[in-house]
Amino acid sequence: MSDIKKIKDEYLDKLSGDINIENLNQIKTELFGKNGSISNSFKKLGSMPSDDRKKFASDLNSIKEELQEKINLKFQEIEIKEINSKLENEKVDVTLPERDTQQGKIHPVSQVIDEISSIFSEIGFSVEEGPDVENENYNFTALNTPDNHPARDMHDTFYLDNKKELLLRTHTSPVQVRTMLKSKPPFKIIAPGRTYRSDSDQTHSPMFHQVEGLHIDNDINMGHLKGCLNYFIKEFFEVDKIRMRFRPSHFPFTEPSAEVDIGYEMKDGKIVIGEGDRWLEILGCGMVHPNVLKNVNINPDKYQGYAFGIGIDRLAMLKYGINDLRAFFETDLRWLNHFGFDPLDVPSNYRGLSR
Ligand code: PHE
Repeated sequence: MSDIKKIKDEYLDKLSGDINIENLNQIKTELFGKNGSISNSFKKLGSMPSDDRKKFASDLNSIKEELQEKINLKFQEIEIKEINSKLENEKVDVTLPERDTQQGKIHPVSQVIDEISSIFSEIGFSVEEGPDVENENYNFTALNTPDNHPARDMHDTFYLDNKKELLLRTHTSPVQVRTMLKSKPPFKIIAPGRTYRSDSDQTHSPMFHQVEGLHIDNDINMGHLKGCLNYFIKEFFEVDKIRMRFRPSHFPFTEPSAEVDIGYEMKDGKIVIGEGDRWLEILGCGMVHPNVLKNVNINPDKYQGYAFGIGIDRLAMLKYGINDLRAFFETDLRWLNHFGFDPLDVPSNYRGLSR
């Protein structure tokens, strides 16, 4: 038997066996690669006597075609086999029961921040944010609270370095400074976020939440402040009437300053907001101090306005009947399942703004 017939028989035999795609590629290279048996046989043609050459060439060509066809068929066969086995193994059993999924809950604080943002956006406030790690200038000095000012001690500040330059912001008021330095008046913003003071009991947690409000324009007065807060409290607690009182107070960055109490009464052991003769403090506010405006390069003779800072956690506790602030931050899933909100729990005054 001639050499090329031997090659042909050998490889037809290999190709009829049970081979995989790697074997098949290997065979292809052995036959038709640069140094493959068939390729090498063609090279011999040149040195053959012309009588033999014709026969050899024709034999070689038909062997080449036969082997090539066999290889192509084998490729197809293997491909089909692979597809079928994939279909078999990756079959989706539509009769299986669905997997048990657990839907998360929205934390009451997140829910209340959404509600607050939505209510203020209705009257033209936009939302600003500032960092939790703040510098002492934005947190105190620029807010007219110089070194040695007693307010600095009152805040029980967490400092982050020995020089007392970096701290965890003790209130959201530094966002007032950041906002006013960033662009030009008028400003009408709220800034919700985390705040920190070294304090912990049933109504105080070292980390808590505030929302700052700031409205600066040419002729903003305390009447606007009152109207704005009155609107907000009524919307938030979903009541038509609210008893509110402004108690004179002191903040270095507002003058005059006030704390605001809202009226409530106890009915069947529950707090009812809006009526009654008991008072509950919920926020601090005032007209922005001219020194604060000067510190951010705004002319206080041209511009003025009000600011307020509301305790968010306190509002959430009141609205949703939660009586221990610390539970907010204990990450107990049973608590969250009870007090948390489904993503589609939409309060009646919610108007679609989301953070
Ligand atoms: N930053 C004050 C506080 O945390 C609240 C406040 C904000 C008061 C804005 C007046 C104006 O107590």
